[in-house]
Formats: sequence, C-alpha cells, structure tokens
Amino acid sequence: MLSIKELDYMDITDITALAQAHNCLNGKLAGSSVCLAFLEPSTRTQLSFSLAAQQLGMDIGYFDRKNSALEKGEDFVESFKAIEDIGFDCIVLRYSYSWLFEELNEKIDIKIINAGDGEREHPTQALVDWYTIKQEFQSSNGYFDAAGLKVAIVGDINYSRVAKSLIYLLNERGANVRILPKYTFESDSMLLNIDNPFKYMDEVVDWKPDIIYMLRDQKERWDGQPGPYFYADDHFQLGPEHLQGAKIMHPGPVNIGSEIVNSDIIDHPDSLIRKQARNGVRVRKAVIVREFQK
Ligand code: CP
Repeated sequence: MLSIKELDYMDITDITALAQAHNCLNGKLAGSSVCLAFLEPSTRTQLSFSLAAQQLGMDIGYFDRKNSALEKGEDFVESFKAIEDIGFDCIVLRYSYSWLFEELNEKIDIKIINAGDGEREHPTQALVDWYTIKQEFQSSNGYFDAAGLKVAIVGDINYSRVAKSLIYLLNERGANVRILPKYTFESDSMLLNIDNPFKYMDEVVDWKPDIIYMLRDQKERWDGQPGPYFYADDHFQLGPEHLQGAKIMHPGPVNIGSEIVNSDIIDHPDSLIRKQARNGVRVRKAVIVREFQK
C-alpha cells in the first residue's frame, strides 16, 4: 500500500473492522516475514509496526541506513533487491524521498507498505487518525458517517505528508475540511477542496470545528526557509484559550512550546493525541493482514 488513494470505502471499512477485532489477528501471519526499513527517524510508526508484526506472529528484520550495506555505498535499489532475495515477504518503508517508493514498486516483487514517504504521503497515519475519529464520533451502535464533520488542520501543510493523506481521506468521506496554513502552500493533488483557508487561530475556533488537528514544522524537509510566513509563530500555537469543545489531534511528535503551548494540552480531556498513539498497533496489524489478503 503506497497511497491512501488506493483504498476505497470498503477497504477502509475492512481495515477499521480488523483493527477493532485486532486481538483475533494474533498469530495470524506466523511463518510470514516483514522487513522494517526505516531510513528516516521514527518512534510511533516504527515501534507500532514492530509490535503489530510481533503480535501477528511474523518474523521481523530491521534495515536502517547506518547499520546496513548502504553505509558501504550499496545502491538503494540493489539493497532492497537483496532484502527480496533473502526471502522477506513484505517491506515497511520510510524514506525522505518519493522516488525510492516508485522505483521499488517497479523493480521488486514483494509487498511494500508506505510508512512515510517524503513530504508526499503517510497513509497508515491517516488510517490511525480515521480510526481514532470514528471511535470518538460514532454512534452507540458503532455507526459513523464523516459527512459534515468539521475538521480544521493547522500548521505546516506544505511539507506534511500526514496532512496530505488525511485531508484526502477526510474529503473522500465527505468531511468539511479547512486549513490554517502557517506558510504559503502549493497546490497538490492530495489537497482537495481547501478553498477559503483561515488566517488566524481565532477564526478556527469561531468556526466551531469538531476537531482541530495540529501539525509541527517539518523543518527537516525545508530547503533553508519554509516559504513566506503568513504571520508570526504564535498565531499558529494552540493554547488553553482555544479549547472550546473541539477535539484536539496531532500525529506526533509534538514540539511543545511551538505548535502546542504546553504538555497540559496533550493530556487535556479534549485531546485525542495519546489515543492516536495507542491506536497505532491495532491499525497497523489490520493494514498488514489486509496486505497479505490481497
Ligand atoms: N506520526 C509519526 O509518523 O510519528 P513518528 O515519526 O514518530 O513515526
């Protein structure tokens, strides 16, 4: 699974149902193997994929930059062909540049799951977020319809792969998504229906969103400067004065003191940030199982 665009409504419903019943998946993929190839730092995604694969009973290999033959100058694609030759069934890949995902998709013949692709996509984070939103907003019989759900996404939209996958998914499901971009942003095929951006945090709050989704500055992807600032930094900071009923989300890692004023917000009753992290394992178990069902 390289893109959230590959998933239709039934796929998302299946993944959500598998995640809901994740304990039943334990041991289901015994005898299968996965290589976790994280060529860019990660805490939540890497560790939740690792725990998910363990619970599924899979054999797990780890591939990174410093401790692999990449360090000796091996070509990227050749390294991944070696992973295929060794006998892995699946690669979970995070890398800073999208070209590698496209090359591998053409040149190797094993399953690839996108665990964060440059500034382009982070589909499993979008699925974790979708699952978390459903948990929060579903009716007592488990029915959830995102149509009309008001979601404000605030921060460095341009460089955020999380924002792109999530905005695409929410728009496809009929949610009402608006953004408060911290920097000027470029149009992108993932950023659908985002006319009428907000300029101030107060406008976001006055809109009475169901969810305020905060993003950190993706400094590691900036080429020097991120582009013109719309306003000073604190125009984009979520503080206690903005907690007026909306649920607060953030994919992590949070830069405390930057986009979120302090850690009290993370632990506030309206915050879903820890739930997002807690849902990582079950959703990634579901994604892996579904990949093996194809
Ligand atoms: N949300 C997310 O991708 O976090 P990590 O970088 O810690 O994996």
